[in-house]
Amino acid sequence: MQTGKASARANSNIAYIKYWGNCNNTLRLPSNSSLSMNLDGLHTQTTVTFESSLNDDEVIIENKTQSGVARERVIKHLNLIRDRAKMETRARVESENNFPTGAGIASSASAFAALTTAACAAAHLQLSERELSIIARMGSGSASRSVPTGFVEWYCSERHDESFAESIAPPEYWNLVDCVAIVSAKHKEVGSTDGHSLANTSPLQQARVEDAPRRLKICKEALLKKDFARFADIVEEDAVMMHAIMMTSRPPLFYWLPPTLTVMGAVKEWRTRDGIPVCFTIDAGANVHVITLSDYVSDIESRLRAINGVQDVLKAKAGEGARVMKNEQ
Ligand code: PMV
Repeated sequence: MQTGKASARANSNIAYIKYWGNCNNTLRLPSNSSLSMNLDGLHTQTTVTFESSLNDDEVIIENKTQSGVARERVIKHLNLIRDRAKMETRARVESENNFPTGAGIASSASAFAALTTAACAAAHLQLSERELSIIARMGSGSASRSVPTGFVEWYCSERHDESFAESIAPPEYWNLVDCVAIVSAKHKEVGSTDGHSLANTSPLQQARVEDAPRRLKICKEALLKKDFARFADIVEEDAVMMHAIMMTSRPPLFYWLPPTLTVMGAVKEWRTRDGIPVCFTIDAGANVHVITLSDYVSDIESRLRAINGVQDVLKAKAGEGARVMKNEQ
């Protein structure tokens, strides 16, 4: 019986051009390509042990043994990797986030990137970054983007083996910092897996998807030229477009809370009135990711903390991709 143990770490990521909706929900093939930055220091660390004495898989997240949906999702992912490695040994999966859970930071991206990297190493599979990104995508779409380093593009395709993420620039390329304004620590009521499957019920989704290559091209060019003004406009436009889809899906999804709008308005004012390089983007939640350059972080942080309803501010610069920390054969 094949055994093995490995640990891996993966950062979460924030998308500047968002992924929302699939052309194939089972394979998690996205309707549009997306572009993101890994978040340095906001990571998941996962250890996978394939052990012959185990009768069943054990999934332990934040020191708690999981049952139900969370456990099933991890086992489904392990099965993909076991099939590939032609093995049947059961596994113990131990996973921890170093960022506060319930802070509204997407943990599925870092979680499935770390799980994929650790489980493939523990199963003695020698895979390319592209193959790891494809497997991670099957667990959570955005996890495909947490595999490569720094600034990352994830390609949409109707073909399973062509939808993967690739680095477009290393972390040190641009000193962008994500200052996450936490306005709600509540766990989101409608998760992204269900949200993606509702996207096509919005009459606006087709227009958003058709226009996505234009937005991605502008965003990528602005990023590579470090043109913050152009970057800011397209990042905000893209985030608001995604939320327009959410709000017009059937049934509709509203993630914003009153302080979300307050922060959005303040950020616009700081940029246009005060000339600060700053913009916002928002995922499937109420928290606002406020993007700025490293020199402006302390100013932005104190401005954010002064807003009523902002409970905390987490900060992350561009980070590395997923990596094996320890591989015990
Ligand atoms: O990977 P998922 O299924 O958690 O989807 C992520 C969706 C957004 O965070 C809202 C957008 C994105 O591109 O990360």
